[in-house]
Amino acid sequence: MTQTEEQEVAVREVPLVPIEKIVSLCKRRGFVYPNSEIYGGVSGIYDFGPLGVELRNNIRRYWWWSMVQTNDNILGIEGNIITHPRVWEASGHVENFVDILVDCKQCKRRFRRDHLPEENQQQNKCPECGGELTEPRRFNLMMETYIGVVEGDKMKTYLRGEACQNIYLDYDNVLKSSRMQIPFGICQIGKAFRNEVTPGNFLFRQREFEQWDLQFFVHPSEMAKWFEYWKEFRFAWYQGLINHKDRLRLRAHAPDELAHYAKQAFDIEYRTILGWQEWEGIHWRQDWDLSRHSQYSGQDLSYTDPETKERYIPWIVETSGGVDRTFLNLLLDAYEEEPDPSGKEARTVLRLHPWIAPVKVAVLPLQKNKPELLETAKNLYKQLQRVMVAQYDDIANIGRRYRRQDEIGTPFCVTIDFQTLDDQTVTIRERDGMTQVRVHLNEVKPYLLERVTWNA
Ligand code: GAP
Repeated sequence: MTQTEEQEVAVREVPLVPIEKIVSLCKRRGFVYPNSEIYGGVSGIYDFGPLGVELRNNIRRYWWWSMVQTNDNILGIEGNIITHPRVWEASGHVENFVDILVDCKQCKRRFRRDHLPEENQQQNKCPECGGELTEPRRFNLMMETYIGVVEGDKMKTYLRGEACQNIYLDYDNVLKSSRMQIPFGICQIGKAFRNEVTPGNFLFRQREFEQWDLQFFVHPSEMAKWFEYWKEFRFAWYQGLINHKDRLRLRAHAPDELAHYAKQAFDIEYRTILGWQEWEGIHWRQDWDLSRHSQYSGQDLSYTDPETKERYIPWIVETSGGVDRTFLNLLLDAYEEEPDPSGKEARTVLRLHPWIAPVKVAVLPLQKNKPELLETAKNLYKQLQRVMVAQYDDIANIGRRYRRQDEIGTPFCVTIDFQTLDDQTVTIRERDGMTQVRVHLNEVKPYLLERVTWNA
């Protein structure tokens, strides 16, 4: 590729991708399927297929590595989905975790009142048909469940509405068992459940989803400093994974948007076809959580500074994002249809960061009817498969096979051709620029590892 062509790749304006294109690709190539599809599906609930699970695992592992493994003052836990019901009274969710809804008396559509345009709220009019809206009603988002088997003696509780509550519940145990001192943080990745009244836009708003949280415990006098620190850290983290840097921004919450636990909040937002939408929330939770759990449980969750002997309830900076929303946004960011240089059909390519791409390499013998090529290719594939997710493909012509890999975001294809049999070199083709280099068979593994792993 010439320098001018390279520049064109870099500056080409890529239009925002319709969600339907991602839904279709996800189903066709095995990233995401509708849950219980043979029974008609359940709105807002999805399953992840073979490629989806690889992508999710990479996203999760990279987050864990950046947040827990490489920060000396952060530890990880894995709490349970079901907790004591009092947790949700203390957290304020039973009382405050509500959506205010209105229904249209004419077309029967239902809306979240805060999602309606200002004008419709004021005039109490349906944005779809202009019909009159009902009085606002409160719906709690917590999903109920029951512990126990004896009728009449079952304990009603909830599937957790936000994953982070376990961190407050385990905070004292972590502190005592790890000899950490403030400031320090606890991280967790885990499922959360919400009876969303308007689930939709594929993985964007689901009823069962996964969150990643950092809860960082600080002295009140250091709250502002750490709030800034984590806001910048998390913004840079997302910037590092996306192609379209101009589609990411930080936005401060207006006072009337704040969740019941937050004194201040910023959203890291990403722009898609849906407009600017929250990707992760950075919340100034202050002493809300530990104070409330101290009060409701009767356990003292205050901290005594080992040097100054000062006793206080730590304040908390929270960074809380969605694994599923990351999955969706990264696909929307990566998806591109570009004209085929040979003038045939468009090339669909997922320009996923090589660190998180579900398949790292495809090994392709140039021709299927040459046993020597197949044997060399299979040996290389077996060797690579031990250290990264690899695919072997000898069906169809080489151009088609490249296309199949581009569509799922595989950053490298290794082709075994006749020259390989002479000098033991192979072609490594890179997905984005479609450039090719020749590398000795012995060098393929280190060449790829350096490019597809974040900790190489
Ligand atoms: N503990 C704070 C908390 O739960 P949140 O803003 O409600 O804050 C944090 O959720 C993140 O979880 C969001 O930024 C989003 O990425 C993800 N999230 C929230 N609701 C979701 C849903 N219904 N479906 C998918 N992801 C969701």
